[in-house]
Amino acid sequence: MRKLAAGNWKMNGTFASLAEAEALLADHPAPGCDMLLCPPTTLLAALSAKTRGSQLAVGGQDCHSATSGAHTGDISAAMLKEAGADYVILGHSERRNDHGESDAMVKAKATAAWQAGLIAIICLGESEAQRDAGQTLEVIAEQLAGSVPQGANGANTVIAYEPVWAIGTGRTPTDPEIAEVHALIRRNLGRAFGDQAQSMRLLYGGSVKPSNAKAIFALPNVDGALVGGASLTAKDFGAIVSALSAT
Ligand code: PGA
Repeated sequence: MRKLAAGNWKMNGTFASLAEAEALLADHPAPGCDMLLCPPTTLLAALSAKTRGSQLAVGGQDCHSATSGAHTGDISAAMLKEAGADYVILGHSERRNDHGESDAMVKAKATAAWQAGLIAIICLGESEAQRDAGQTLEVIAEQLAGSVPQGANGANTVIAYEPVWAIGTGRTPTDPEIAEVHALIRRNLGRAFGDQAQSMRLLYGGSVKPSNAKAIFALPNVDGALVGGASLTAKDFGAIVSALSAT
């Protein structure tokens, strides 16, 4: 399985930021892992034009479950595809919290993404209160069951485990805590999707940075990372790509 270093720029970046993507490619023209950047939608087509034919894929940060229609401010999976996306992040905790996205909505979006030919990166994660209450495994199992449609396989789906309390905070779970959740995800995917579970990439996300990437990538069932803040500069994201390529 080829591992994946995915960067999520969130609501950050201007056209000037595309220079970071160019620098990343210049430093890593042939990385030993897949590289992906998900910029704001306004930058998608321009980034895709700059990276066409290269080892850097581009993706969206969300899509609507419908193919078109009266949905002001939303974007369809086919629109992302036309702008050059190969992936779309779905069910990020910021979408779940800021926009009230439920597991069922995420599942519908994933189906729409597949229909448009996009790979869905489906995000799961417990809140701090849920972790403190010892509910992490049950929360993740429920989100996984509710958010991933039938038909998921290694070619159309990536799962990202992102503890909400670790996102943008500089805090991360311990190595055994990450390994425990990733093992649960792999096991439950196996029950739902059989052999396909082995080829689905499981990413860890939440305060991944150059200093902790190597240790996280060494954990079982961690097939890459979904990186927020540290994906904004070629220097930091490049260091994470190097760590993953060396794993
Ligand atoms: P972070 O964000 O790396 O800035 O913690 C991760 C994410 O939200 O995907």
